[in-house]
Amino acid sequence: MRWMRAAGRGLLVLLVVLTGYVASGARAQEDTGGGRGPLTLATAGDLTNYLGPLLQGWNRTHPDEKVTLVELPDSADETHAQMVTDLRGGDRSRFDVLNIDVNWTSEFAGAGWIRPLPRDRFGLGTFLPPVVDTATYDGQLYAVPYVTNAGLLLYRKDVLAKEGVPPPRTWAELERVARTIAPKYGLDGYAGQFLPYEGLTVNAAEAVYSAGGTILDEGARVTVDSAAAREGIGFLARGVREGWIPKAALTYKEEESKQAFQDGRLLFLRNWPYAYAYVGASAKGSKVAGKIGAVPLPGPDGPGTSVLGGSNLAVTAHARHPDTAARLIVYLTSERVQRQVLTRGALPPVRADLYEDPELVREFPYLPTLRESVLTAEPRPKSPHYDQVSLAVQAVVHDAMTGRQTPEAAVRRLARELAAISRR
Ligand code: GLC
Repeated sequence: MRWMRAAGRGLLVLLVVLTGYVASGARAQEDTGGGRGPLTLATAGDLTNYLGPLLQGWNRTHPDEKVTLVELPDSADETHAQMVTDLRGGDRSRFDVLNIDVNWTSEFAGAGWIRPLPRDRFGLGTFLPPVVDTATYDGQLYAVPYVTNAGLLLYRKDVLAKEGVPPPRTWAELERVARTIAPKYGLDGYAGQFLPYEGLTVNAAEAVYSAGGTILDEGARVTVDSAAAREGIGFLARGVREGWIPKAALTYKEEESKQAFQDGRLLFLRNWPYAYAYVGASAKGSKVAGKIGAVPLPGPDGPGTSVLGGSNLAVTAHARHPDTAARLIVYLTSERVQRQVLTRGALPPVRADLYEDPELVREFPYLPTLRESVLTAEPRPKSPHYDQVSLAVQAVVHDAMTGRQTPEAAVRRLARELAAISRR
């Protein structure tokens, strides 16, 4: 009998060990694992130069878990290319934490380059709902929202006030004022980000969505060959043809377009809120400080639709110290740091309550408009081949804007190219 009891005990021990093993195995798949120590955080260009100083705060209080910041180029496409090259190196990857564009989560998760994260560790319930979606792939959390973004129309308040016209709500109003009033003040009419790169995909998607169209549907089927898409692309192409979009804008990314506006060369600018915060307040060298306003993007018959931008923090598959990585992400998404992301970085935070904070609203009066724009913003097309989809959109829309193809022919060609990509 003793042997039976002993065997029973042995079995129990074995069971406990096994259960523990299975549980920790399951956790390992959906966990940041153990490990504390120094990290490298890679990010796209820090346009407002706030992240380095912000991380110094962490480094001072975490001397054994210091973060080294690697700043990649301003252009989203170049940052994407550099991150992908690094991640393809597998365990030779230099990066532990990545600040990735919202529309890369699926690609990076699908490729196994970033780890699933435990939902309950990051207090997601306090975040704006659409941003949490961008960090989810296949029902699993693969990143934590860090910054959100939605396009706004910035305008010269001083000029419109002198003319007695309200800020435009429709494309027709924008076109009329850009064509007739801007030249009286020696200004160009309208610009966005029209260089062929991710920014042009964003501007083109906004034009198509605002006209009621789509590029791909939920099942990644091509839906772009529509009257709405022709109208959207037509709006952009007409601007260049008629001269109320200056030719120079075909080379603009975020920074160049912001510079044109801040030098007092433009009446209207589509940009992300950082440009408004930076140019409008007391930015050094801004010729338009105190003279600008921001409204939702216009569309054909009323307010249009913005694309949801922003970035998420992800932990790489080969991260050296996953526990520190997760703790750093908790820190960067904490209420205190999210406040600094707004006040020092001029970037829209992901925590919902900050948009209603009276002190912040006093300092950043566009917060309520921005909150509305984020909540109604639409994501970019979802596809496992998103990078190729975006390249096709950029190339075709640029050809339409330079007049190499009519909007009708451009939309047909885009539909063909997207169909070929989805068959790959
Ligand atoms: C901003 C947005 C990002 C977008 C990029 C395009 O950084 O936050 O989502 O892809 O601009 O240039």
